[in-house]
Amino acid sequence: MCGIVGYTGGRKASEIIYEGLKRLEYRGYDSAGIATLSGGEIFVGKKQGRVGVLESLIGGLDGNTGVGHTRWATHGKPSDVNAHPHCAGKFAVVHNGIIENFAQLKERFFCGVEFSSQTDSEIIVRLLNEFYDGDLLSALKCVADVLQGSYALAVICADFNGLAVLKKNSPAIIGYGKDGNFVASDCPALAGECSEITILEDGDIAVVSQDCVRIYDGDLKPAERGRIKNLATPASLELGDCPHYMLKEIYEVPASVERTCAGYFTVEKKVSEVLRGIDRIIIVGCGTAYNSGLVAKRYIESFARMPAEAEIAGEFRYKNPVITPTTAVIAISQSGETADTVEAAKLALSLGAKVIAVTNAPYSALTRCADAVVPVGAGPEICVAATKSYTGQITALYLLAKTLAGVSAQASFEKLSVMPKLCIQTIENIDVSTLADMCARSDGAYFLGRDIDYAVALEGSLKLKEISYVPSEGYPAGELKHGTLALIDIRAVAVVIITDERLAGKCENAVEQVLSRKGKAVVITNVGGLEKTFEGRAEVIKIPKCDMYLSPLLSAIAVQLVAYRTALLLDRDPDKPRNLAKSVTVE
Ligand code: G6P
Repeated sequence: MCGIVGYTGGRKASEIIYEGLKRLEYRGYDSAGIATLSGGEIFVGKKQGRVGVLESLIGGLDGNTGVGHTRWATHGKPSDVNAHPHCAGKFAVVHNGIIENFAQLKERFFCGVEFSSQTDSEIIVRLLNEFYDGDLLSALKCVADVLQGSYALAVICADFNGLAVLKKNSPAIIGYGKDGNFVASDCPALAGECSEITILEDGDIAVVSQDCVRIYDGDLKPAERGRIKNLATPASLELGDCPHYMLKEIYEVPASVERTCAGYFTVEKKVSEVLRGIDRIIIVGCGTAYNSGLVAKRYIESFARMPAEAEIAGEFRYKNPVITPTTAVIAISQSGETADTVEAAKLALSLGAKVIAVTNAPYSALTRCADAVVPVGAGPEICVAATKSYTGQITALYLLAKTLAGVSAQASFEKLSVMPKLCIQTIENIDVSTLADMCARSDGAYFLGRDIDYAVALEGSLKLKEISYVPSEGYPAGELKHGTLALIDIRAVAVVIITDERLAGKCENAVEQVLSRKGKAVVITNVGGLEKTFEGRAEVIKIPKCDMYLSPLLSAIAVQLVAYRTALLLDRDPDKPRNLAKSVTVE
């Protein structure tokens, strides 16, 4: 969701913050803004639109201290007035999170006062201004005491040449630069500027100046948080020769699989310790991470013959889940910061479950609460739509399910080791242009499959709808005739994934049903003979043959490329789909 950046030091703050915001744009791109402090005065530039809208404003924003924001709108539509920073009196504030009691606070402290924006965030700066009597720290503490919800706040005050930071349930890090110090939502914002960072904990208040960072806990006692290396480097965030991050990241699928395998060796022992005595698994995640959980459910049931359920994290929290001391919860999240997933993991822990995090983000909120962490070696993923992180998660979950079945990573690795090469072959050889053209012209696309292919069908459908806005659904192929068939006509496309020889015949039936209702059908398969079966009637996209359970690594590439090509045909920006953000840190 929103991204925040702050800087105080020896250089022009607006320029540095602007660069940081560009790297955080995946967190939202509805509006952007910067406030700077110069000569005891605050200057603000903010506008609806992507971070680029600030380029013409930064020249006029003088000062060596400032805060900036890129917004994903929750309360209040995307507009200039709702853009952050919000200002009152001597303060300017940027906020990531949601203030759940903003209406009550407004009623209590500002009854009858007209606010400038429709945001929940404006209350914060108004309260700071209200509580401030010259003591910044105690004003921050008073504000923290009344706010409910989630927030990472960066504040500038006309009386102090530095930054103040408040954090609860939204991520915030402090960065140490050569000529100044920083605050940000995430490490990429500080790539190239800070090689060391500190991750703040919930309740922390930080006061940051050019040469000094002081961190206090919620009771204003000095807190030691330690420094770690910033793993984000400018090179890892560059687009290179690729036209879009999405394509670049699909090209990185083979490396993601390889690195995830390598990373698993370092955690195998710990994972098997945590899983000792476990007899039931619940997998939680949101969006793509949930879809990879559906594949994991099949792995765990097939390899370990252990009952496994996959739950949407936001639902898991409110369904009064059945947890026993022998339940393990696998929480999957690319960012490790998705609020629904982190809260689901915390709930599971509080109910006595063991929690294993499967994530790209080694220092995230999810890793900090889990009993064990399985690293996904995808590296930074910038495109909002997940690609290489999905295949990385599948790789990690395959290995994890094998551990549960008592099979060593070394033994599992034999089957996995050929996959990077097959991923490369898939990327290089398949042609999805006809299917993309069909999708772009269709009224709706229906992704069908059985068993593990059904799990990938759901991901294919999600990918297509999120970046091309073509309505789509994922369905078990056998269910087509129980409802979805009513939607099939000459303007519908069915994408049928068939990688399981045992079920190929049954899935062929679904293709026939679509064709007989005048729909278009395209088959993504590595099963032999289907080109002949459907010759002249349905397009067949061949992916390489591989172990049945690892086929999602290849079929996922095909559906990702279909979504990407369709988005381009429809003139959509595949990297920044409308209304979405990559890391959703609010519930
Ligand atoms: C958002 C993104 C999705 C992503 C989901 C879960 O909704 O738009 O692409 O799959 O969050 O994110 P996570 O970081 O937890 O994997």
